[in-house]
Amino acid sequence: MTTAPTPTPAAVLDAYWNGAHLADPPAFLHRARGVSPVLHDSSRGVALLTGHPEVSAALRSPHVRTTRYEGGEAVRASASYAVMSPMMLFHDGPSHTRLRSLAVRAFTPRVLEESREFITSLTDELLDDAARRGEVDGVAALATPLPVTVIVRMLGLSGTDADRFRMWSESIADLLGGVNVTPERWAQVEADARAMRAYFRTLADDLRANPQPGLLSALAAAEDEGGRLSGEELLANAVLLLVAGHETTSNLISGSLHALHEHPEQRAWLAEDPEARVGNAVEELLRFLSPVQGTGRVVTVPLTLGGVELPAGTFLSVSLAGANRDPRLFEDPDTLNLARENARLHLAFAAGAHYCLGASLARLEGSVFLTRLLTRFSAYRVPEQPLAYRPNFTLRGLRELRLHLR
Ligand code: HEM
Repeated sequence: MTTAPTPTPAAVLDAYWNGAHLADPPAFLHRARGVSPVLHDSSRGVALLTGHPEVSAALRSPHVRTTRYEGGEAVRASASYAVMSPMMLFHDGPSHTRLRSLAVRAFTPRVLEESREFITSLTDELLDDAARRGEVDGVAALATPLPVTVIVRMLGLSGTDADRFRMWSESIADLLGGVNVTPERWAQVEADARAMRAYFRTLADDLRANPQPGLLSALAAAEDEGGRLSGEELLANAVLLLVAGHETTSNLISGSLHALHEHPEQRAWLAEDPEARVGNAVEELLRFLSPVQGTGRVVTVPLTLGGVELPAGTFLSVSLAGANRDPRLFEDPDTLNLARENARLHLAFAAGAHYCLGASLARLEGSVFLTRLLTRFSAYRVPEQPLAYRPNFTLRGLRELRLHLR
């Protein structure tokens, strides 16, 4: 019997950059980890990290920095660049601390607890509406409007602009990791970036003159206090909050609806006592789904990760999805086990300085949604249907999920 030769790191990385993992990410990531949890292609100066200890170490290392939003002259002259490059995601050290510290105020436990009631009544309204309509697309009817409405309210934006925000959010998702984006689509993304700049610039001026409740007013005021936040920074980070609050949580909700349908015994277990069990269930769903599949980092000094020596300047493709299915930490990692004892060790929100700012909000939204869903419609039905995911390297979410609440 002959065994297939082990692929070289370069071959696995080539397949990865070409999107070979998108059809079935866990299967590809297991194969890559099987070759090595740190797959280094020294000729190109890149490494793919798919193991939990290695991903965790990289994200927490002082010798690893985040990626910058960079490009040639044409990119730097674009509106997309102006919207993306001041986002806190692409900054380190004091510049990152300054940008993050202003926004962090909006996510204190007190502010979040105050939102619980609103999130609960909004969830009930969406569920009532969907139940009345019979068969609906759960992405459009439930998974998208819940987080969008919540973040729009927290920022103090107008709910009547929600459709526009959804389109902008899709454009930012393309800028963060779109796959096979056509030139026509890039032109639309650039037009959206111009529209976002105009919208937030005018709004910030209005809010400074006439403060309103909400995070955006607080950020606009902070800009006035000794120029701590420039106009471009305000704009970019407001857009980041808007988008981060959209796509990710929406993918957690739609993915959970599907995963619980596929695992009826898990759904029944959660439905028996949602209040008590939902906390751990949300952690396990975050681990299982990894709504943000990965991120990028750069090594700043020679560094050994998982026994592999990486020169300064190596680009790290950090697979959060890979870490979350690492069998060295999670027993039987491809099984959804809502009672898993160490589910909380997942890296779905990353780790280190850029640990997700909205993690508590996302957990709250996920918990309230699943509790209300399973308290009221534990027998919801998902008919046979072909499933398609949005073509994106970074964010993994269903395009559509038809379902019936009953
Ligand atoms: C299930 C939902 C969510 C997931 C899985 C998620 C995941 C992540 C991950 C992995 C990062 C780190 C990215 C990196 O280091 O490159 C991140 C950062 C961030 N997230 Fe989330 N997120 C979620 C929901 C939210 C929500 C609801 C908000 C806010 C409304 C939010 C705001 C942010 C912000 C502002 C950052 C940047 C933090 C920084 O750079 O310091 N996220 N998120």
